[in-house]
Amino acid sequence: MIDKLEYTNKHELIFLDQTLLPLKEKYLKTKSYKDVAEAIQKLRIRGAPLIGIAAAYGVVMGVHHYDTDNRKNFDIHFYKVTETLRTSRPTAKNLFYALDRMVKVFEENIEKDFVEIEDLLLREADAIFDEDAEMCKRIGVNGSELIGEKMTILTHCNAGELATGGIGTALGIIYTARDQGKDIFVYADETRPLLQGSRLTAYELAENEIDFDIIIDSMAANLMKDGIIDCVIVGADRIASNGDVVNKVGSYSLAVNCAFHKIPFYVAAPGSTIDFDIAEGKDIEIEERSPEEITKVYGEKITSQDFSVLNPAFDLVPHELVTAIITEYKVHYPPYNFGGLKHMFQSYIQTQRADDNENDN
Ligand code: MRU
Repeated sequence: MIDKLEYTNKHELIFLDQTLLPLKEKYLKTKSYKDVAEAIQKLRIRGAPLIGIAAAYGVVMGVHHYDTDNRKNFDIHFYKVTETLRTSRPTAKNLFYALDRMVKVFEENIEKDFVEIEDLLLREADAIFDEDAEMCKRIGVNGSELIGEKMTILTHCNAGELATGGIGTALGIIYTARDQGKDIFVYADETRPLLQGSRLTAYELAENEIDFDIIIDSMAANLMKDGIIDCVIVGADRIASNGDVVNKVGSYSLAVNCAFHKIPFYVAAPGSTIDFDIAEGKDIEIEERSPEEITKVYGEKITSQDFSVLNPAFDLVPHELVTAIITEYKVHYPPYNFGGLKHMFQSYIQTQRADDNENDN
């Protein structure tokens, strides 16, 4: 498993700088919650679940490294930390899911002293990390039911180990199916403009010994036309209650092409990506990123002038185009209605873990 992030007993976060991969495997170390927010904004730490995990540890560091005896200042500082992390990126639900859990722990234990609160916050961050790894494992098992003995799968962006606390969501399904003895070939979209496919997914698939080709994003439709793709599996940054999916820009084109070519379009994501309070995808904020991500390549300007650029990081796949959504709980088919399932998702992982512990004893 790739070591992407670790919280040390010196209250530092060590993380792999994903902007430098695969050319450099460089780990950065910080004690500052502001650095964590910056790392998320700059995509050094990326992928919806990993963003949430990093932010949770950012809160612990923010509290630990703040020196005060004054309770009021401590409380004010706590909210400053969570707000800074909250504004690092707008789209991934997992960021807000993790920060809301940290705030809940803080507010439920407001009567306790600093040290106890800090300890509880650390335990919550560890739980968010562990649970995410567990969710990935279960998504892998559930999703592998959809994978035949020999399949060619197309994926977009990176929804793997590098994006989560575990084996990944979309790629977790591929690893699980391969471990079951299935013969899998992957086409990895390069994923313009930041190349999460050719830089990160390719690196990860190679580490995991999966056969693959990288393709340019606009090649996908041709492969579908030629009957080469059996299914598409992508991750998600946020899923609305009606099953609308927001994921890396280019996902919508893939879904339209899948519908045209009658190929299943699957989305793999944990319950922490579902926004039970948002009815439809149109209400999900889509991050607009810097024009320089398009006008520069490795810091070198490639346009003759500073042209105006449209650079949304994600797009919306309407639920009508989603064949199935694979969560840690099960494979969900249309019509999707996650609105009423919030409580079930909240207790599911804890119940499963308790059952697993009992079976182990
Ligand atoms: O901008 P990124 O690299 O953070 O975008 C990541 C994605 O779009 C992933 O598909 C999504 O976060 C799911 S990761 C399990």
